[in-house]
Amino acid sequence: MGSRILLETQPEVPTQTIGTEAFRQKLSALKNAQALAGGIGIAAPQVGWSARVMLLGLTAAAKKRYPQAPAVPFEVWINPVIHSFSTETCWAWEGCLSVPGLRGWIERPSTITARGMDEKGQVIKKTLDGFTARVFQHEADHLDGILFPQRAHNTRHIIPDDILANQGEWADEWPTPGARNTAPGALSVLP
Ligand code: NI
Repeated sequence: MGSRILLETQPEVPTQTIGTEAFRQKLSALKNAQALAGGIGIAAPQVGWSARVMLLGLTAAAKKRYPQAPAVPFEVWINPVIHSFSTETCWAWEGCLSVPGLRGWIERPSTITARGMDEKGQVIKKTLDGFTARVFQHEADHLDGILFPQRAHNTRHIIPDDILANQGEWADEWPTPGARNTAPGALSVLP
């Protein structure tokens, strides 16, 4: 957070570069960074790569940060575009490898449809819901220079990470009703 690349809109990957040795090396570095950091997803600008590339997938290390998270399949998305959002929303405690020490209580659409390309340059079109849709939207935001604190409705919805270990001791309605009953990696339909 604070680094210039995280504030910028990233350029699309030219289709003809997908699968080149240079591209594969950068993609491999991104996969390694995700595994080391324990991310449930990661976006290229987080490792200094200016490109519309992101990874989804629940690594073993991420399972510790998001104990309630369901399986999120490993996927490479290149030039992803979200072309529809549900009006139904849900809330979750989001964290980010680029925003150390903080979590945010963030509302986003529950279901999205997206298209993009995989690491072979094949077109992917998918409808995503549940925690996968949540991670997808968070990572896609990185490609447009947006970090989760900018998605918070209220500054009270940003809290220190370690406070989440004490949810049982929170006041019933802090910071909103329902928030204390939603573990990291879970989704709540009520704020
Ligand atoms: Ni992030």
